[in-house]
Amino acid sequence: MTGLPQKAARPAALLGWALAGLAMAANATAASPPPPAPPAGAGAQVLAGAKLYQQQCAQCHGVMGRDASVFPRPIWGPGHDLAKFGNAKGLFDYVQLLMPFDDPAKIDDAAKTAIIAYMLVRNGNLKAEATVPTGGDQTAIK
Ligand code: HEC
Repeated sequence: MTGLPQKAARPAALLGWALAGLAMAANATAASPPPPAPPAGAGAQVLAGAKLYQQQCAQCHGVMGRDASVFPRPIWGPGHDLAKFGNAKGLFDYVQLLMPFDDPAKIDDAAKTAIIAYMLVRNGNLKAEATVPTGGDQTAIK
């Protein structure tokens, strides 16, 4: 038997399958610039988030959170649309549920929180040396 069990055909699995195709297309065409240096003065969590972002997110969102072929809209900095998440917790909840889009279970909550801390530093909402508690907090996103 080689077929997937019926139960595997959940919407999330189908979405992941569709996105995997997109990601492969992105990889095939991407001539990505090198990752930027981490933010000056970054603490351990933000440094970890910078690294994790490049490993888990940059292939679809670009090394600087923009100009990627899969999701071209910026996810921080000028033109971003993250204020809709309200604060760090709101952003965490979204990422916890949906990102990385190809497999949201690929990384744990601590890793996701570190990535969010990094994004908020890049977005100017958090100081580089600050930390965010696992699961996010009330740090406002502007
Ligand atoms: C396989 C490609 C892929 C990967 C990897 C990926 N994303 Fe995404 N991301 C997307 C797509 C596609 C959307 C749009 C989803 C939607 O609108 O339903 C999105 C949307 C988002 C948004 C919402 C942006 C907005 O303006 O609405 C955020 C924030 C985000 N991703 C963060 C991340 C983070 C953080 C990671 C790494 C942990 C990550 N993504 C990894 C493809 C990806």
